[in-house]
Amino acid sequence: MSDLTLGVLASGSGSNFQSIINNVESGFISAKIAVLITDNPEARAIERAKNHSIETLVIRPRDFEDKPAYYSQIAEELRKRGVTLVILAGFMRVVGKALLDQYPNRVMNIHPALLPSFPGLHGQKQAADYGVKLAGCTVHFVDEGVDTGPIIIQAAVTAYHDDTEDTLGERILKQEHKIFPYAIKLYSEGRLSVKGRKVIIKGDRTETPVINPPLN
Ligand code: GRF
Repeated sequence: MSDLTLGVLASGSGSNFQSIINNVESGFISAKIAVLITDNPEARAIERAKNHSIETLVIRPRDFEDKPAYYSQIAEELRKRGVTLVILAGFMRVVGKALLDQYPNRVMNIHPALLPSFPGLHGQKQAADYGVKLAGCTVHFVDEGVDTGPIIIQAAVTAYHDDTEDTLGERILKQEHKIFPYAIKLYSEGRLSVKGRKVIIKGDRTETPVINPPLN
């Protein structure tokens, strides 16, 4: 049993959060989920946490003087619960230095595009509008930029000329639900290390599956 303790930050539906919960419960990821922190009291992620008896904290930026105070508080709550890896599962904010300093290369994010293309909001719409033929998603460690941190794993999906944000987004989301748990599993097994911009996956040439649907 790994001693990995996850803290999840989410703002919305939490389908990625759910996929992580399922993969922890099935034993695919050896870890425990200590807490869900959300900035949105209406987030569906809260209900998901409740269903699995995961503690939830609603921490809203408007209750704090500034961004450093907000992220210091979040870091403190995570630290108190022994969190060793922070998971951004649809947390719709640019995380502050006050948290990143406490968790260097220990904050993971999922982005719905093949970075470095289409960072920021609505990655799926940006890709659909641009007319790419391959779209996808990326799990990366978080740095102070917007979706700029070292890339851990990516998955590609076919994009069609008549895709919309929603149709493409749905195809991408299915892959998100696979690669995010997979990245956490790699971390929990101590197989990830960061050298500059690059994430080295121990054994990647033999063991990391390429998660791509066949072209048809
Ligand atoms: C996902 O598309 C993720 O890539 C992005 O926000 C969305 C969250 O979806 N960061 P959900 O809340 O996990 O359903």
